[in-house]
Amino acid sequence: MIIKKIGAKAVKNSRGKKTICVIVKTSCGRFRTSAPSGKSKGKYEVKSYARGGLNSDIKFFRKLDVEKINGLGIEKFEDLKKVERLVNEKIGGNSLFAFEASLLKALARENGKELWEFLGGRKRLFSKKDAGKKFRMRSVGNVIGGGLHSEGVSENRPDFQEFLFIARGKSFAECVKINRNAYKMARKLLKAYQRNDEGAWETGLENETVLDIMSEVRKKLRVDIGLDVAGSSFYKNGFYNYKNPSTKLNKNEQINYIKELIKDYKIFYVEDGLEENDFAGFRGLGKSCLIVGDDLTTTNPSRLKKAIRVRAINGIIVKPNQIGSLLKVKEVVDISRRAGIKTIMSHRSGETKDNTIADLAVGFGCDFIKTGIYGRVREAKLKRVIEIEEG
Ligand code: PGA
Ligand code: ZN
Repeated sequence: MIIKKIGAKAVKNSRGKKTICVIVKTSCGRFRTSAPSGKSKGKYEVKSYARGGLNSDIKFFRKLDVEKINGLGIEKFEDLKKVERLVNEKIGGNSLFAFEASLLKALARENGKELWEFLGGRKRLFSKKDAGKKFRMRSVGNVIGGGLHSEGVSENRPDFQEFLFIARGKSFAECVKINRNAYKMARKLLKAYQRNDEGAWETGLENETVLDIMSEVRKKLRVDIGLDVAGSSFYKNGFYNYKNPSTKLNKNEQINYIKELIKDYKIFYVEDGLEENDFAGFRGLGKSCLIVGDDLTTTNPSRLKKAIRVRAINGIIVKPNQIGSLLKVKEVVDISRRAGIKTIMSHRSGETKDNTIADLAVGFGCDFIKTGIYGRVREAKLKRVIEIEEG
């Protein structure tokens, strides 16, 4: 592939904050990718940008010698290795992700393929049995928010960061429809009027009252209940400091509390039930539902291997800009598949309308995609998966 030009600029994300957009130009067109931004970031994530911040990463791309990149001979996915050797930690995770994704989009087009196809998606996501038609990915949608993501309605917002619905539809498109109906029903029951960063409803109700409302919805619609506890966000000095209702729990009490919730509310999915250093605590939650690592694992193959060794999780969040390298993102998905760990490709709370993660989820063969329910930047990803499913 011959690259004509590489560029970068700042664009605004859904919070109105600047993020990077990297553009690769070839004879087949211009290929761009912008990176999302997290708010409740894990301590073990790579830095979004190198030392000088966003502007110095942008400068890096503007100064990058295109002929040097062309000299690497980038023709297939694995050639990203050569790119990584060359940029070698001179840029942050947001920038590396956006650069690699744009290169792959260009490569895919060069090969007459869509990105998801170029990454091998058809074999992975469509079962042979159904004449290549059956699509197996489900959507995980944030319906009600608390914690760091919801600061508008009340001081007494729930402590858990995300209350999620995971629809049981026959197709991805149907899952999206069911999730949307569940979102509307939840609003009525909550009497909510304000949305948070991710388009989820804000409320001043307590954690368990919200779960009661979710159970009401589950009785009427085909949805499973999920929780992103985001344990690290309210953990300090050995205690989980709940505000609503006000309680302080030590590690073992937290494990027992989450286990009780799983049982009482038939919860299907719990993300970051404990803080990001506590591999053993995750294991303590048992495996009666999906026990998912996000801040615990940060899309990092070494942390995933540790989680497998201590049997901490059976599900993992995959956020490309937590690690930057798409080679490592693929490694995480592949290791997980071999270990029987479900993969959840995920957006960040600050997003752009970029839909690359939809192609990555299908291309790498993820089990779920977590990308909200409401709002242009969330729906862009859902629409793209439906387009692939129906294509
Ligand atoms: P983020 O976190 O705000 O860092 O994107 C979302 C999450 O915890 O899943
Ligand atoms: Zn999370």
